[in-house]
Amino acid sequence: LEEGEKTRSFASGMGAISAILIHLAKKHPEIAFPKVLYGGTRAFIEQYLIPSGCLIHWFDPREEGWDEELSRRLSPDTGAIFAETPSNPVMTVIDLEKLSSAAKKVGAPLVVDNTFATPILQKPLVLGADIVVHSATKYLGGHGDLLGGTVTGKASLIDRLSFEEGSYLGATLSPFNAWLLLRGMKTLPLRMDAHCRGAMMVAEFLSGHPGVKSVHYPGLSKDPGHKIASSQMKGFGGMLSFSLGDDQRARRVASGLELFKIAVSLGDPESLIEHPASLSHRQMTAEERMTLGIDPGFLRVSVGLEDPEDLVMDLKRALER
Ligand SMILES: Cc1ncc(COP(=O)(O)O)c(C=O)c1O
Repeated sequence: LEEGEKTRSFASGMGAISAILIHLAKKHPEIAFPKVLYGGTRAFIEQYLIPSGCLIHWFDPREEGWDEELSRRLSPDTGAIFAETPSNPVMTVIDLEKLSSAAKKVGAPLVVDNTFATPILQKPLVLGADIVVHSATKYLGGHGDLLGGTVTGKASLIDRLSFEEGSYLGATLSPFNAWLLLRGMKTLPLRMDAHCRGAMMVAEFLSGHPGVKSVHYPGLSKDPGHKIASSQMKGFGGMLSFSLGDDQRARRVASGLELFKIAVSLGDPESLIEHPASLSHRQMTAEERMTLGIDPGFLRVSVGLEDPEDLVMDLKRALER
C-alpha cells in the first residue's frame, strides 16, 4: 500500500493512529500537530498523549511562514510530525514537501493521515513522508460496512510496531473485516474518479448559490489550497464543506435532504452529510471550533457515487425550502 515497504492493519483508523503515535512517543515524547485535525485524533492527543506526559507543538498551516516557525520550535527530541491533508473538516491543504523538509531538519519521522485523499490521489511517501496512516473504514473499504486502519512505512518500523503496540494494545483487524477491505480496494481507483467528479459538481453548485456563505473544496480555483493541491494531488477528492451561517439553518438543510444521509463517516457509496459542531468535532469548545473555521452553520459532505445531477437537485431543493 502507498508504495511503502510494509503495511500493518488495525481494527480502526484510531487503532492505527494511536498505535503509531504511542510507538513513536515512547522514545521521544514530543510531537508536532497542525491545529486542523480530525476531532478523534485531537481528542486522543488531549485525553491520552498530554496526560501521559507528551509535549505537543501545535502549528497552524494556514499562517504565512508556518514551516519556518515549526522548524525553529522543534528540538532534536521530536518524536514525530503528524499531519492530515486535506484536513477534516475544513479541507486545509498542507504542503507535504515543506512539512517533510521541516521534519528532516530535526530528524523526526513525518506521519501523514492520507484518509481523505487515498493513495489514488496523493502519495505522501513519494513526497517525503516516512509513515502513512489510513482510516480504512472510509475510502479504502469504500462500502460503509467495515472498520479498519492501516500504518505503512519501512519494514523494520512496521515489524517493531506489529510486535509491540500491534499485539499488546490488541487493535487487530478482524479476519472478516480484512476480507471486506481487500474486496473494497479492488474498486478504489474507479470509485475515487467518480467521487472527484461528483464533488466538483456539488462544490461548483454550492459556491454559486446565494444562500451559501462559504465553500471549502481544493478543486475550486479560488480555494486557498487549490495551488498546492494541484501540485501534490492527482484529483481533489470526494470531501467538501460549506457554511450556511447559522446552526438552525444548517440542521434544517441537512435533515431536509433526501439523498444525503446524516452520518459522521465518509467515503461510502452513498452521499453523507454531518454537522461537525454537534457530531465529529463536538469534543472541542465553540471557541476552539471557531479558530479552525468551524462555525455553527458549518456542514461537511462526503459526496457518494450517485448521479451528481441528482445530488445538486437535492441540495437545491433543501436550500430553497
Ligand atoms: C482523517 C481521519 N483520520 C482518522 C479517522 C478515524 O478513523 P476510524 O473511524 O476508522 O477510527 C477519521 C474518522 O473519521 C478521519 O476522518
